[in-house]
Amino acid sequence: MSAVVRDMEPRDLEAVLAIEGESFPMPWTRIMFENEMCIEGGRAWLVVEHDNKVLGYGGVALMADEAHVMNLAIHDGVRHRGLGRALLAHLAVRARQLGARHLTLEVRERNRSARALYEAAGLKSVGVRPGYYSETGEHAVIMWSDDITHPGGEARLELLRRRAEQDLLAYPGDTTDEQGPLVLAIESSCDETAAAVMRGGREVLSSVVATQVDFHARFGGVVPEIASRKHTEAIVAVVQEAMDEAGTVFGDLDAIAVTHGPGLIGALVVGLAYAKGLSFATGIPLVGVNHLEGHIFANVLADPDVQPPLVALVVSGGHTSLLHVPEWGVYRTLGETLDDAAGEAFDKVAKFLGLGYPGGPILSKLAEDGDPAAIDFPRAMLHSGDYQFSLSGLKTAVINHIRHERDAGREIDIPDLAASFQEAVIDVQVAKAVRAVKELGVRWFCLGGGVAANPRLRDALGQAMAAEGVGVSVPPLSLCTDNAAMIAAAGTWRYLQGERLGLDAEAEADMRLDER
Ligand code: KG4
Ligand code: ZN
Repeated sequence: MSAVVRDMEPRDLEAVLAIEGESFPMPWTRIMFENEMCIEGGRAWLVVEHDNKVLGYGGVALMADEAHVMNLAIHDGVRHRGLGRALLAHLAVRARQLGARHLTLEVRERNRSARALYEAAGLKSVGVRPGYYSETGEHAVIMWSDDITHPGGEARLELLRRRAEQDLLAYPGDTTDEQGPLVLAIESSCDETAAAVMRGGREVLSSVVATQVDFHARFGGVVPEIASRKHTEAIVAVVQEAMDEAGTVFGDLDAIAVTHGPGLIGALVVGLAYAKGLSFATGIPLVGVNHLEGHIFANVLADPDVQPPLVALVVSGGHTSLLHVPEWGVYRTLGETLDDAAGEAFDKVAKFLGLGYPGGPILSKLAEDGDPAAIDFPRAMLHSGDYQFSLSGLKTAVINHIRHERDAGREIDIPDLAASFQEAVIDVQVAKAVRAVKELGVRWFCLGGGVAANPRLRDALGQAMAAEGVGVSVPPLSLCTDNAAMIAAAGTWRYLQGERLGLDAEAEADMRLDER
């Protein structure tokens, strides 16, 4: 049976007061509701009910041409299932019928999920009332809609109303029950166009990755212009394939998660623009994910026991970052590379040797037959006493070594060279990672990013952490390199936190994790 929205009646007051009490620190009293309900004209009070049980309510009061939204609340146990959105849509339609041109309301600054709900319905923050909520001193954010009688506003209202119908029909449909939200994720930060559908932040229903590597290989690295063009060509089909494979349709989704930084700007905007368009057309909320957070969340998919506080090392073609994660969503960068990223060093050395692109998998394969102690390459910053990395010196040392040997007419033993180079990279990473877990006293260590696919790095970290009694999580190879399943995992967590991305959000090439 679906949920319905109807006018509030005196017999609903008991249930309404109970929800009011659990929702607001300064709840309205019975008298206040009774007074409101006997005002003739310029008011609409609605409840949403399912199976004869009131699950939420809200009201609008018309003042001049503004409809003030009052006391919108949903019962604790059934939030995040579209009932608030449906109620708001019905209130907006009523407000329009009462003659309102604008919707307005005040919301607690810290009530992120309510603000996200209103933003998704087209309300914008237009000001702040400092210390408005006297009991906590918290600020109120004033929100305001564009003219709902204008064509653009009317179209949005119609979309909201249609989405509300779906929400009510689906309640308690099998998409939003205990299994958790159904999320479509989109990733396009570098040279992989990826989409995934996930249930409840864990269960990967589909994960499609269209790699452009062949188009970049002949240039020995990612060419940004080619990347954007290829994303544009692939994205519609990739998303469709992910949806088909998951056996789902857009109407079933609870959220769309998208990588909005860091990465190549021209590549990021393709995924973000697509996700925004889909969100606008369907009314499904949008959630923004930092690509590095995605790499860390890949570990949650690999091992559900992983829990902060933890230390994470994200090593990819664009990053070498050692991070402290005291709790999910809070990130402190301990150190980064001062020059080349770890994957970039692998790629550049392989390119110099004419071995192809990407260099990481090629060199690590060759290294299996080489002697890691054959050549004593520098371990930059090993004893620097901090958590910074530097890889360009090592890259230069390898290139100089090759030139020197060639000039001397000696043949280079490529496996020995690959193993020695790899060992120099890994030694510093392991040493700094171990120092970090010891210094911070954490019990978990997570590895992420394309270079985490390196077997020797996985082994070395596994051994070193075991010796410290620290649990290690390393994602399976398919979740190390760029994919959308990891974005879905991080996106689901952010969605459940009530975070939403506005349709005016922009991609950020240099987005940092610590500033979230
Ligand atoms: O995470 P990712 O797919 O894309 C970025 O966000 O950069 O990482 C790609 C990087 C490339 O530089 C690639 O050479 C490196 O990961 N990589 C490896 C290995 N597999 C991939 N590096 C070392 N050993 C590997 N087995
Ligand atoms: Zn990556």
